[in-house]
Amino acid sequence: MTSKLRLGVNIDHVATIRNARGGLHPDPVRAAEIVAACGGDGITAHLREDRRHILDSDLARIQAATSLPLNLEMAATDEMLEIALRHMPHAACIVPEKREERTTEGGLDAAGQHNRLAPIVSRLRDAGIRVSLFIAPEPRQIEAAFLLGAPVVELHTGEYAHAEGEAQVIELARLADMAALAAKNGIEAHAGHGLTYDNVQPVAAIPQLAELNIGHYLIGEAIFVGLEASVTRMRELMDAVR
Ligand code: PXP
Repeated sequence: MTSKLRLGVNIDHVATIRNARGGLHPDPVRAAEIVAACGGDGITAHLREDRRHILDSDLARIQAATSLPLNLEMAATDEMLEIALRHMPHAACIVPEKREERTTEGGLDAAGQHNRLAPIVSRLRDAGIRVSLFIAPEPRQIEAAFLLGAPVVELHTGEYAHAEGEAQVIELARLADMAALAAKNGIEAHAGHGLTYDNVQPVAAIPQLAELNIGHYLIGEAIFVGLEASVTRMRELMDAVR
């Protein structure tokens, strides 16, 4: 039995559906309220440069609607830094962002982009925002996060989620090793991307992980069973292996 694993629910795709018609429904704020009421530990939202889902105006409304910590996913740009400093979310997770991608496809190259990331990490940290770097589960990225002074890394679970059989076992071992390496260096380890009811438990069982951030699958399931039921089920699956 290890400590409780937090569940951050990414509500971006509630906004994706809303924006498909340009109106107000479905409102991601209502999703945040439901997550708060049914055992989610945090709200995650990615304000993209192209504003394809979450909008600037959503951030303050989400913060006002629930007392759950807001984890703002953001690209390492001056525009996003200014927005983060204005809204003061609990946490900011720096992600790589490509305009043409469908989702955040890979991890941040924290090792290759030290000089670009360093001032952004320090400005966020100095403001009291908990900084996380979304990285591939690789030793050089953990080392880079350490050198940047990031208190948190989020390990990209996309490779694990897409792999099958033996390849998935290898990806899981990489995640476990990197969570342990992060913890050894005093960095809190989170994980996320592509997690579902079927693949979450081996990841949730990694003892050094403190938080999972899950979005697309939970919102997709919510179409069939409702958001409360999808979050509750995910919570149960995670708790069963801790
Ligand atoms: N964590 C981060 C940093 C992400 O960028 C995303 C996707 O926006 C997620 C977690 C959630 O991934 P998914 O939507 O596949 O569950």
